[in-house]
Amino acid sequence: MGLIEGKSMELKTPYYVIHKEELDSNFKKLKDAMEKHWGNYIVGYSYKTNALPWVIKHFDTLGCYAEVVSEDEYNLAKLIGVQKNSIIYNGPIKTKDTFIEALENGCIVNIDSQREIEWLDEVEKAKRTVGIRINFDIEKMCPGQSQCAEEGGRFGFCYENGELSKVVRKLQEKNVKISGIHLHTSSKSRGLDIYRAIAEMACKVQEEFRFDLAFIDVGGGFFGGLSTKPQFDEYLSLMEDILSKHFNKERTKLIVEPGMAVIGAPISYVTTVVDVKDTEFNRFVVTDGTRTSIDPLMTKSSYFHTYERHSDKERIPKQVICGYTCMEHDRLFTAINEPELSVGDKIIYDKVGAYTMCLTPLFIKYFPDVYVEENDELKIVRNAWKPEQYVMNSMI
Ligand SMILES: Cc1ncc(COP(=O)(O)O)c(C=O)c1O
Repeated sequence: MGLIEGKSMELKTPYYVIHKEELDSNFKKLKDAMEKHWGNYIVGYSYKTNALPWVIKHFDTLGCYAEVVSEDEYNLAKLIGVQKNSIIYNGPIKTKDTFIEALENGCIVNIDSQREIEWLDEVEKAKRTVGIRINFDIEKMCPGQSQCAEEGGRFGFCYENGELSKVVRKLQEKNVKISGIHLHTSSKSRGLDIYRAIAEMACKVQEEFRFDLAFIDVGGGFFGGLSTKPQFDEYLSLMEDILSKHFNKERTKLIVEPGMAVIGAPISYVTTVVDVKDTEFNRFVVTDGTRTSIDPLMTKSSYFHTYERHSDKERIPKQVICGYTCMEHDRLFTAINEPELSVGDKIIYDKVGAYTMCLTPLFIKYFPDVYVEENDELKIVRNAWKPEQYVMNSMI
């Protein structure tokens, strides 16, 4: 936590803190890997992963495109000043108006539904250029690693059952230019095998359809900022080896759409112990944070965490660390044989920047403060929501 030690004692908890230098140095590693292994590339920052306004603006200033999947995200990108053609518009729930506007503004639009094919008729002829999201059997290529196993993913047009061929034919009949292929695949493993499969699939599609592609979009889903996991250089080196056999680097851009890999690691969540109570079964340590702020889907069983204690205490066998909500399962972790925690001590959760802030419910308390840490300074970039913000768009 570096600088936060000491300073955090003065701030009202709970709050998130974005470690800007860590974010920037990790992002530089991604850019360096893209530069080294493909040269001709675009990084699209995945809004869904964390669309805090400071975060999306920062990735814009780092030169990223905005990767968006809804009308709201599309309009948010425009609102924060993203250039009108620097948006990658994905997913099956685009709206017709924004779909047409995005194409007419020269955005990268990856189609993912039949209705978009119909909407193309209403797009200016010269602007009918799309990428196609491809659905393929990644479980077969990487057994046990894909997110949906034998049930298969639900995004894109299926290669194996001929749906992709039908869509390609339909687009060709309409004189729509197919400028790219999009192969994002969420996986359990985030492993190198997944990107080997994606690159091999891109080559297979290319061999079969002989497109003249301006881009291959391999999506997000990478690890990043964790020394024990695959590094950007490894993912990119592997994909370069495979893709360069079928694609020309100068002609075809490589697009990545990281979320977790660039915003997961550099964010922490700081909480304070507000009460300690004993029951027949447990010592409960109640904090002013909540599991819903670091694990909104309640799927994890452990969290990276550190403590800042006011004083050293004796170890005690078991302390159950709890959050502020009135849900029994708002229990974050159990500290076994650790020094006793007391009121005022801090518990800091690290690497909690992805799929946290954006999924936190407005349950019991509203959104917390967010700070950015840079050059030993903390700057507030979001004030905690109060009832005034909560009622903002309601009629009372
Ligand atoms: C199309 C697309 N791109 C990028 C991402 C970002 O993935 P991650 O945050 O795992 O990097 C997702 C996540 O679901 C996605 O669906």
